[in-house]
Amino acid sequence: MQIQIFQDKESLHRAVAQMFVDAVKAKPSIVLGLATGSSPLETYENMIKDHQENGTDYSEVVTFNLDEYIGLDGSHSQSYRHFMNTSLFNGLNIPLGQTNVPSGTGDVDKTCEDYEAKIANTGGIDLQLLGIGTNGHIGFNEPGTPFDTRTHVTELTKETIDGNARFFESAESVPKKAVTMGIQTIMDAKKIVLIAYGSKKAAAIRDMVNGPITESMPASILQDHSDTTLFLDEEAAALLKPE
Ligand code: GLP
Repeated sequence: MQIQIFQDKESLHRAVAQMFVDAVKAKPSIVLGLATGSSPLETYENMIKDHQENGTDYSEVVTFNLDEYIGLDGSHSQSYRHFMNTSLFNGLNIPLGQTNVPSGTGDVDKTCEDYEAKIANTGGIDLQLLGIGTNGHIGFNEPGTPFDTRTHVTELTKETIDGNARFFESAESVPKKAVTMGIQTIMDAKKIVLIAYGSKKAAAIRDMVNGPITESMPASILQDHSDTTLFLDEEAAALLKPE
């Protein structure tokens, strides 16, 4: 794992956005894996700004998002489909038909199977963006998720529900289940970038980097990935062992 530490959040987001822009320019038909949550938000803003100012072309790009809440349809204001359309896709020239977010309604088992097949058909994800939950989850792969999982339905932990309650009216209205790419799906990405900032993420970052590779800390599996870079601010990096 490579680690880059930034003094402030703004320069961190600029650097991640630039990496994505450079990757799209190098391979216009790139397959991107994308994430939701607050962590990637300003990265997406920077990508939109670059598109407006420099015209970076997304017309051939294909995207796959990590996850979606079960029970929320794409028009729900807290669905990840809605989040992606409003935070990124609508600001780029990417045809929405080339953007994939697993559906949280309908036959979810079929959704999981189709999602894996669709990713495989593209030749696989070239560049995957990740955030990390305070409990070390990636996507919605909660602690205890087997490392060999592919896209599947998962029950959210209380910590995740409480953590995401800020986006809903109350913790009770947060869906209890989600569909998520599995850990093996994520590990199959050729290149992975994980963003974390703020002191709330420091313990998870320490455990994923310095701790043992264990299913109780899902992100620790990234120690075994051949091309993963962590983009951290100083607060998120504060508990790391010095090199
Ligand atoms: C959700 C998402 C994750 C994300 C995590 C962290 O649970 N499913 O993909 O990494 O939140 O959220 P945030 O970036 O808001 O801290």
